[in-house]
Amino acid sequence: MTKPVLYLIACAAGPTQFVDDGVRAAQDDGWDVCLVLSPSAARWWEQRSGELVELTGHPVRSQYKLPWESDALPKATAMLVAPMSCTTLNKWGAGISDTLAIGLPSEAVHMGVPVAAMPYFNQAQGTQPAVARSIEVLRSQGVLVLDGPDGYASHPPKQGNPEAFPWRKALDGIRRLVASGG
Ligand SMILES: Cc1cc2nc3c(=O)[nH]c(=O)nc-3n(C[C@H](O)[C@H](O)[C@H](O)COP(=O)(O)O)c2cc1C
Repeated sequence: MTKPVLYLIACAAGPTQFVDDGVRAAQDDGWDVCLVLSPSAARWWEQRSGELVELTGHPVRSQYKLPWESDALPKATAMLVAPMSCTTLNKWGAGISDTLAIGLPSEAVHMGVPVAAMPYFNQAQGTQPAVARSIEVLRSQGVLVLDGPDGYASHPPKQGNPEAFPWRKALDGIRRLVASGG
């Protein structure tokens, strides 16, 4: 039987240094994982992108395709944006999809694809008024935003532990969403 396809979409936030852990955890959950990185996150993995291609068995995408190119990835069953940076959250909330990492989930959620997002940023970033507004805007569109106790609660500045990002909570969230019919 073919496995369901999860687009794991990672931004340039601390835990993306360890996104291979997230890929392995999702694969253990039975997903065929396709990794999408924001352009900034792709820079972090530039020297080691081959490892991610080998791990997922798919191209790792970070740029929009050209108009005449065909899709490089299989159709998504579900999408998980994790870690979601403060910048991506606010751009998405404002309807700006200038990265593939935003373009894919922002359209998919209106095409019947279950979409979850788990943020990772500090409390100083999270206190900006735009953050609460953007989370509300995403939720109003049907995105499962995993913040606070059910997901990731922002850490005090300089006290993050990106290696301990709770991938498990993110994967449980998307599993619940898919099971509930999205
Ligand atoms: C080393 C480093 C770590 C960063 N960590 C975070 C982070 O954990 N959370 C966050 O929201 N932004 C973080 N940033 C800032 C984002 O990378 C920046 O806002 C960027 O524009 C995000 O773009 P993206 O969402 O397209 O990946 C970090 C930047 C650097 C250079």
